[in-house]
Amino acid sequence: MIKPKNIPTSEEINKMVSTVVEELNITTRFLETKEYMQHGHISVYEHCIEVAYTSCYLAARFKIDVDYWSMIRGALLHDYFLYDWHIAGDNSHHFHGFTHPKRAFLNALHDVDLNFVECNIILRHMFPLTFVPPMRREAWLVCLADKICATKETLHFTHTDAAVKYGSVRES
Ligand SMILES: [Fe+2]
Ligand SMILES: [Fe+2]
Repeated sequence: MIKPKNIPTSEEINKMVSTVVEELNITTRFLETKEYMQHGHISVYEHCIEVAYTSCYLAARFKIDVDYWSMIRGALLHDYFLYDWHIAGDNSHHFHGFTHPKRAFLNALHDVDLNFVECNIILRHMFPLTFVPPMRREAWLVCLADKICATKETLHFTHTDAAVKYGSVRES
């Protein structure tokens, strides 16, 4: 059977996500995100991997032509804010929902080179809470995947369809 252009198989998606996770584990502070909780018992690290898988799953399922490598990198770094937003302390994280995309963007920019798609994914993933909408298909998909994953995590339904379908790199 002939595959539509640029629609990877589940094995190819699994390999791409694993490759980028391993690269970021070495070249950035991505492993530090294991220390910070996101929703329920899910760490920011696990959340970002789930969002990457879910974005790929949506693109493949609906045959949307995307730059998978950039979408995965952007998804993995979309919450790269590197603090525990549950700890109010000095109230500096009071507006976390509004401010963390910029913080994640600046942290990522400090550690790696980002292309336009990756920048747009990180900066616009909280739309519509933050008012400016995404400008790229990849950024729209990550924005949607983030909400799907956040909802499942908040409801303690932690194993997403994407993670089951494509396997998991939770322990890496
Ligand atoms: Fe976020
Ligand atoms: Fe997120």
